[in-house]
Amino acid sequence: MIYEPKCKIDIETASSSRINEVDFDHLEFGKIFTDHMFECDYKDGIWQTPRIKKYEALTIDPSARVFHYGQAVFEGMKAYKDDNDDVWLFRPDENFRRINKSAKRLAIPEFPEEYFFEGMKTLLNLDSGWVKKGLGNSLYIRPFIIATEPAISAAPATEYKFLIICSPAKAYYSGEIRVLIAEKYSRAADGGTGFAKAAGNYAAQFYPTSLANNKGYQQIIWTDANSHEYLEEAGTMNVFFRIGDTLITAPTNDRILDGVTRKSIIQIAEDLGINCEVRPISVTEIKQAASEGQLKEIFGAGTAAVISPILGFQHADEVYEIGEMESSYGSILKEKLMAIQYNTGDDPHNWRYKV
Ligand code: COI
Repeated sequence: MIYEPKCKIDIETASSSRINEVDFDHLEFGKIFTDHMFECDYKDGIWQTPRIKKYEALTIDPSARVFHYGQAVFEGMKAYKDDNDDVWLFRPDENFRRINKSAKRLAIPEFPEEYFFEGMKTLLNLDSGWVKKGLGNSLYIRPFIIATEPAISAAPATEYKFLIICSPAKAYYSGEIRVLIAEKYSRAADGGTGFAKAAGNYAAQFYPTSLANNKGYQQIIWTDANSHEYLEEAGTMNVFFRIGDTLITAPTNDRILDGVTRKSIIQIAEDLGINCEVRPISVTEIKQAASEGQLKEIFGAGTAAVISPILGFQHADEVYEIGEMESSYGSILKEKLMAIQYNTGDDPHNWRYKV
């Protein structure tokens, strides 16, 4: 049964599906996209009637502002399928709220709530065959907005495109993760765009991260731009540290993404009686804890990464190996989180959203 959207959406379905060409057991993150996409244009001061059509390339003028000034924001969400073939989203209201918070910071007009939810539901219903069952399988959803107005003066555009594309996904990180702690480069500064999912925040990490990759590290843990002493986030994930039996994560601010997985973990930890402190945490503190054998875990948390253990880190020339413990907080929290996401466990905070 095709879902009937509660607002006007023009729908033109693909004449054939590509699903049978896909090897769902060997998916590289973000490489394959489903049959359809959602698209909505902003012009003459309003978001126009949205449409769903077959996934295809866009035709955009080379002078579009997004190409020159990076006026673009995005979100990351996932859809999960349970054993009854029902498809679920996890806290989509948080993603809706955040894309508009990011949009505002980039001088992009806010996107209407009804279009966001009805567009997503209709798209996911059309492409529900692409959401595979089984823990670890999901459909990664990428809503994004780009400035399409053809004009290269440095000013906010008057025309935009909001799109949703979807990609079947398994784990984001396949191997072990070790990280370099930033000492020179910065991801964000006070008053900047660090809290937003702005495309440029990610582009600016690529070069320093490639230097870290050359040293054998998969990611950088960014530190505050002023002193490089306080641990912030890992760029694709928020980070948690377990010292003794206490979980610690940095408070969100101008520079740190207010991650949906992050805030869910803090809540689940509280539900489980795990002591979780949201406070500034310094490089000195974790190095000392590591030297004393008290730094028991580090893990990253994000939609794509879920909860990914970080097995070691380097700071200055010092290398610390933490390893992975049995029954870690990371694994306990991940199990609880996934039970909510895949509809196999209780959902005490009503985070699941049926598509
Ligand atoms: C997400 O977890 O959804 C993200 O946005 C990270 C992304 C850069 C893969």
